[in-house]
Amino acid sequence: MRSTQARGETDMNTSTAPLLSARHLTLRRRGVAVLDDVSIELPTGSTLALIGESGAGKSTFAFAAMGLLRPPEVVLEGELMVSGTDIVRASERELQALRGPRMGLVFQDAAAALNPCFTVLQHLSEPLRRHKGLDKAACRARSIALLDSVGIADPQARLAAYPHELSGGMQQRVMIAIALACEPELLIADEPTSALDVTIQAQIMTLILERVRALGASAIFVLHDLALAAQVADRVAVMYAGQIVEEGPAAQVLQEPQHPYTQGLRASAIEFGAERLMPIPGVVPALSAMPGGCRFAARCERASAQCAERPPRVTRGDISIACWHA
Ligand SMILES: Nc1ncnc2c1ncn2[C@@H]1O[C@H](COP(=O)(O)OP(=O)(O)OP(=O)(O)O)[C@@H](O)[C@H]1O
Ligand SMILES: [Mg+2]
Repeated sequence: MRSTQARGETDMNTSTAPLLSARHLTLRRRGVAVLDDVSIELPTGSTLALIGESGAGKSTFAFAAMGLLRPPEVVLEGELMVSGTDIVRASERELQALRGPRMGLVFQDAAAALNPCFTVLQHLSEPLRRHKGLDKAACRARSIALLDSVGIADPQARLAAYPHELSGGMQQRVMIAIALACEPELLIADEPTSALDVTIQAQIMTLILERVRALGASAIFVLHDLALAAQVADRVAVMYAGQIVEEGPAAQVLQEPQHPYTQGLRASAIEFGAERLMPIPGVVPALSAMPGGCRFAARCERASAQCAERPPRVTRGDISIACWHA
């Protein structure tokens, strides 16, 4: 895997401990578990794709990992270690010290995430001043370099632009530059290309991956698409209704999925490629009416009486699956 030495700094956490590790993380909103006993590990210098249908809880996980979902809005249980800090128990002050220098977030919709009243320079300067202590001239120079690094032509001229003066693809590039401004160890990108034209989606994904590798950083990509996940991620975690149902090396999960839900995702992707959409029948149960056993059972061809009991996540070789019938 990629060398962490590319960061050019020593880090006590890089040797053995994973950069991010969620252990039995549960997040409740008004009594309902939106994330239910989620365990995920992200080794330092690696990339993980979190995939699943709309409403699975992927963005909720991404926001929780950034420390953006906190009591009293939600109730958090379990542990979520990022770079040696437990996000569940950290103070707002500790979280602020993590966001920016240690972790960055790229949102799905750059137009909504950027402040319409701030120029590109103001957006980029804020983290540079706050976390790196750069003065005005240094912020300007660094901002130009950052824009250049994300493929924005004539970066000097773009500094004075407001978000609405930029195309969607350019806004997304600016947001990537902001997220990476302080050279974080962890980048979380929540469907970073789904608001963009198909033609530039691949460019932006490639760009993010290049930048992450150049920094020796680790990344979590939230994605819908299993095939795209296999292209950009070392490992894939499949989320269904707030639970991780399968996790393993990306190629293996794509080519030989074990969980019936992942198999359904793969089948629908393949049939879609052949222009015959094969959706997984049924819908995700409402969070307020989630069954106590396997949450996928109602849609699963292999469901049996045993599925009324929650399947434990069992590790087989390099893959872990939560299914009685995998
Ligand atoms: N602010 C909120 N208040 C109440 N419920 C919410 C809120 N945001 C999300 N939810 C619910 O939490 C669950 C998980 O949503 P989340 O946005 O994390 O899913 P997702 O996997 O990111 O979906 P998508 O692929 O559509 O982005 C959904 O049932 C959603 O309706
Ligand atoms: Mg989402």
